[in-house]
Amino acid sequence: MMSAVTELGYLGLSVSNLAAWRDYAAGLIGLEAFEEEGDAGRLFLRMDRWHHRIELIEGGGDDLLYLGWRVAGPLELDEMEDKLRKAGLAVERRSSAEAVNRHVLGLIRLMSPGGIPTEIFYGPQVDNHKPFHPGRPMFGRFVTGEQGLGHVVVNEPDVEAAVRFYQLLGLRGSVEYLLSAPGGGQIALTFMKVNDRQHSIAFGVPNSTKQINHVMLEYSELDDLGIAHDQVRARRIPIAMALGKHANDAALSFYSATPSGWLVELGWGGCKAGAQQEYHRRDIFGHEVAQQGFGLDDLRLANEPDKAV
Ligand SMILES: [Fe+2]
Repeated sequence: MMSAVTELGYLGLSVSNLAAWRDYAAGLIGLEAFEEEGDAGRLFLRMDRWHHRIELIEGGGDDLLYLGWRVAGPLELDEMEDKLRKAGLAVERRSSAEAVNRHVLGLIRLMSPGGIPTEIFYGPQVDNHKPFHPGRPMFGRFVTGEQGLGHVVVNEPDVEAAVRFYQLLGLRGSVEYLLSAPGGGQIALTFMKVNDRQHSIAFGVPNSTKQINHVMLEYSELDDLGIAHDQVRARRIPIAMALGKHANDAALSFYSATPSGWLVELGWGGCKAGAQQEYHRRDIFGHEVAQQGFGLDDLRLANEPDKAV
């Protein structure tokens, strides 16, 4: 049995405005934000019983710092390290101090083909004694568990190399959208999965300037998505892609700008990953580009009004 990651467990972000992020993450999205004593310039975001799912580090960049993929335990981590080394990848075994810093028992680290710092870990700290306390009232919860924290769309310019890399980690997937490009030709978007979540990572968005395009977080209750949508509009936060329903994961979602200038996709109602590959030419409804400049400008996911359905 080849070792494989089981889920996207955590991620880290560099942010220039920690206060704005606290307000956006806790007050708008509903994440639980907290600091640890003596840890200035560092904010943890909690979604469930885990110690945290997202770490914010104050500093320049306003981009992704790392992704953390989970394996079951120490044996699986050793097997994964061995497999990656045999594939010729430069893997670092990180120190126990770094594991403590990440609130996990052990981790290795390597780079994806696109330069995404990729950590593989086991044994996250799970605070079962501490109920999740949302940053604003919520009707439900965040969909996590075996599906991990959500999904990310990242910059992997060499898509073929990226597919091989994530396959080594244990993910599967291929192109799920073939979209007409504005200047002619087609844009292919690749989605990869590793558990019941329809996808955990995707790439292929052209002209990316940041390592991260968006992170998607999923609500269990539609009304929580509605509250977030009201809040985004009340605060006049740019909505890069309007409310709509994706053809692949069936999630009702919209994309709003984070204080770091990239996007959070908030969603509800995502379907489970299917066993077979399929691709789509557009979304079911909505998802028109509502504001330019957030890396989604060329994605014609929305129905073009002048064309018949
Ligand atoms: Fe997404």
